[in-house]
Amino acid sequence: RSFSVTSTFDFASNLFPLSSTAPGAGGYAPLGRSGGGGGNNGSLEKHKTLTYLNGLSLIVGLIIGSGIFSSPSQVNMNMGSPGASLIIWVVAGILAWTGAASYAELGGAIPLNGGAQIYLSKIFGECFGFLFTWVAVLVLKPGSAAIIAIIMGEYLVRAFIGAEAETMNVWVSKSVALVGLALVTFLNCVSTRLGTRLNDMLMFLKFVALLGVTVIGIVVAVTGYSAKGTTANVEWKQQGWFEGTNMNVSAWAVALYAGLWAFDGWDNTNYVVGEFRNPSRDLPRVIHTAMPLVIISYVLANVAYFLVLPIDAINSTNTVAVIFGAKVFGTVGSLILALIVSASCFGALNSSTFTSSRLVYVAGKEGYIPELFGRLGTGTAHEEHLSTVRTRSWFKKKMGNLFGDEDTGLFFTPIPALILNAVLTSAYVVVGEFSTLLTFYGVAGYTFYFITVLGLIVLRVKEPNLERPYKTWITTPIIFCCVSLFLLSRAVFAQPLQTLLVVAFVIAGVPVYFWRVRGRSTDRSRLLKMDSDGKKRRWWKFWAKRK
Ligand code: ARG
Repeated sequence: RSFSVTSTFDFASNLFPLSSTAPGAGGYAPLGRSGGGGGNNGSLEKHKTLTYLNGLSLIVGLIIGSGIFSSPSQVNMNMGSPGASLIIWVVAGILAWTGAASYAELGGAIPLNGGAQIYLSKIFGECFGFLFTWVAVLVLKPGSAAIIAIIMGEYLVRAFIGAEAETMNVWVSKSVALVGLALVTFLNCVSTRLGTRLNDMLMFLKFVALLGVTVIGIVVAVTGYSAKGTTANVEWKQQGWFEGTNMNVSAWAVALYAGLWAFDGWDNTNYVVGEFRNPSRDLPRVIHTAMPLVIISYVLANVAYFLVLPIDAINSTNTVAVIFGAKVFGTVGSLILALIVSASCFGALNSSTFTSSRLVYVAGKEGYIPELFGRLGTGTAHEEHLSTVRTRSWFKKKMGNLFGDEDTGLFFTPIPALILNAVLTSAYVVVGEFSTLLTFYGVAGYTFYFITVLGLIVLRVKEPNLERPYKTWITTPIIFCCVSLFLLSRAVFAQPLQTLLVVAFVIAGVPVYFWRVRGRSTDRSRLLKMDSDGKKRRWWKFWAKRK
């Protein structure tokens, strides 16, 4: 059994090739790898370890990151009034929910790891799957990491410098972002385990911060008016919720992108669908608990911001949580909130780095990008030992060496992929700025979300008899497609430069596809063709038969 089998289309089972724990949640072991040579279903079937709760903590941990502590200003600025902003938050949440529900249907019908890449390849052909990977490696992953890093930098600078940070040179916070990025990359190079451990710990902070903001807001709202009227912000209450609402539809689209950023990450359980014990039951359950939970907590946090802060204060900052803390508790409050939020961003950056490096690594292995990026650091142990990771005792699994699996040793990580990802991310940090990156990422991300959910509709027509353990209401993907189409079309007017850049990235992938993928053996393309005999069948049986 060798580690480097690439004979089958096993992008996804490769996503977490080196870890016994996926990011965000502890204790589960996603990985087709060590179970058997390729990404065939034999190995996937053997290692179905994810439960409902694992899935829930994974997705909630990924979604709650920087956004709810930073996007509110973008939303407010573009919407003009608290009422309209809250509506955008609800709409963004519901849109993310419809997207996630659609992905849940796809994940049930095609219960393999890999998310959009697999679905697109299956439905529209490998070119689309390739383009997704291409854009994800070049734009989506580094772009989103850059946003998180920038927010982390801004919060850290605020924590240590205080209010003057608002007027300081952007390069101060950008430098902090770059240092944080380098640190996270280094940690991920050293050991996979270290990174996942860190994630598990930081996940709690996110909940603490969000819950804290909400509780404080409510307390201030309830007590503030009577006791010390200055604490609670009442200006806008006198003006009315919708006073000053911006009627420019393009601005709404930009606001929606900002809200959607905070909800982004809803597709991440789909990357590990194949590892669920019972994907057809648990994937929809995870989605339908996680999304309403996140929507409610985001709306409450925003209400808390509005109750405590004047609109201008919210609008003028990317670090609304700090201003919030300062207003309620003074300097100590702002320091504590700044530290918690930057730690939350650090965690988000860490899990983003973890998953991105796997994506790059697999792209390298698949030959999508130079093979160099599909290599591992040498490590201090042998590849074959990976298989023993799975059989360790519960105690060892829980308590195992913090710095690495004793089976693999240090530096047994996709170092070239990690470095490529860090370099690309740094480039975005250097050239980009929070709000432009946000739209840029939104346009690129929603292009592929749109195509994938459209694929669901196409698949219903093309393969009506495919077994779909979970079938969403057909209006769900239709709503998602309509709203994302609106978003994408508006972006063309509101942010033409970003849109153009995204289009350029996608188009640049087409010749690369012909060069790197079409030139090779056709086995893989055959694998991806849809069976058209119209018989009802389990996807994985079909898959196995084709092999
Ligand atoms: N929603 C997250 C945040 O608020 C961002 C998620 C980034 N996307 C991702 N696929 N990791 O920071």
